[in-house]
Amino acid sequence: MERIRITGGRVLTGKIRPAAAKNSVLPLLAASLLCAKPCVLRGVPRLSDVDASLALLRAVGANPVRRGPDILLPPAAVTGRVPPELAGAMRGSVFYLAPLLVRAGTVEMPLPGGCRLGPRPIDIHLAGLGAMGAEITEEEGAVRLSCPGGLKGTEFVLRLPSVGATLTLLMAAACARGITVLRGAACEPEIADTAAFLRMAGAEIEGAGTPVITVRGSDGPLPGGGVHLPLPDRIAAATYAAAAAVAGGRVTVEQCRPGHLASFLRFLRTAGCEVSAGPDSFTVVRDPETPLWGGIRLCTGAWPGFATDTAPLAAAVLLQAGGESRIHDALFQNRFACADGFAAMGAKVHADGRDLHIWGGARLHGAAVNAPDLRGGAALVLAGLAARGTTIVADPGHIRRGYQDLAADLKTLGAHCASLKTISDATRKTVGAMQMR
Ligand code: EPU
Repeated sequence: MERIRITGGRVLTGKIRPAAAKNSVLPLLAASLLCAKPCVLRGVPRLSDVDASLALLRAVGANPVRRGPDILLPPAAVTGRVPPELAGAMRGSVFYLAPLLVRAGTVEMPLPGGCRLGPRPIDIHLAGLGAMGAEITEEEGAVRLSCPGGLKGTEFVLRLPSVGATLTLLMAAACARGITVLRGAACEPEIADTAAFLRMAGAEIEGAGTPVITVRGSDGPLPGGGVHLPLPDRIAAATYAAAAAVAGGRVTVEQCRPGHLASFLRFLRTAGCEVSAGPDSFTVVRDPETPLWGGIRLCTGAWPGFATDTAPLAAAVLLQAGGESRIHDALFQNRFACADGFAAMGAKVHADGRDLHIWGGARLHGAAVNAPDLRGGAALVLAGLAARGTTIVADPGHIRRGYQDLAADLKTLGAHCASLKTISDATRKTVGAMQMR
């Protein structure tokens, strides 16, 4: 198991650039199956979810090729059978439902895996595909879809603005017969990015990024392909911003879209950080000697609300603030599994269902903790930046799903931080001693 070791107390300074957004890259890899001509995704980070997507593409018959930071995606004939171990490896496997249905006519797929953030049904994906003519059977944790007559355009209202379901239905609609109108669609930036990719390949889409999306389908695969540079990762950008707030110092995040994390930057200002933003970079400054302001209430929501993925990062910041703060996650039931790790480091926190209560200002100390999920794991690494002594975050693979090398990123900013891929005897002794405490 990988471990990240952080020794707290270093002020951060420097510049950093986020990689391409995981949550754009994953649907884009799936969407490449819809294109009749070759596609290239540029600047794709080496994340384990990307590796799992490439394995899934190969398993269904495609032939993606990694060339340095780029991924080449030649057109291929595919089957609709997704191996269980690949479907279970990540939530992103759900993005293959629509492309495989379009290209293979049938899909058989175990239900997708991913972070254990609470129940993550796919009923909206299935209801939308059903409305477009798919025949669906669900049995024993797997789903089977077929569409002998092809998908047809329809008007469909999403019962809630699911990011994943909006992407599924956008991809399906792009290749359906006739016009589809999606109402109540998610508006996250990754939706507009996927729409831009599909448009590049010949799709006719209007309104992506708004609650009403209209698509004129191509009645089969999209005629084109092309080269696409996915969006910069707004959650990685928020992670670096949060690191500056937790550790103190001055960090500039370059080549990003500050507007895509506006609610997080507003939160940092409210907590007492100095934040200045331009069109494609922002800087967070915090004097490590001055405590942050707590007494903050945050509630996550769909775009443009406070992003659920940034909630654990905000919690790591609020541990440094005086007073009682509370974060409510409106999207997922179990967003705050990282609370146990915070508590092991001396934080006064209490997770109560969707709510995290934080009594900030407690002096944190190093501890051996476990990453419970991707963003919770990142938040524990951030908390370690402010802890006295050494923190070891044991990670069974969650953090690599979303950050190519979080420890290396923080190290470039001056953190005392390393990723321990093989655990040394010295570290084993340290972890053992910490776990005895
Ligand atoms: N939902 C349903 N039925 C559905 C689909 C969703 O009830 O058919 C519910 C979910 O259970 C959840 C809510 O709707 O309570 C929102 O889920 P959504 O579909 O919007 O999320 P997702 O597509 O499963 C993506 C990201 C998540 C991110 C959320 C919200 C990917 C692979 N994942 O998940 O990212 O938290 O949108 O923005 O794109 C992460 O990066 O760590 C991560 C979890």
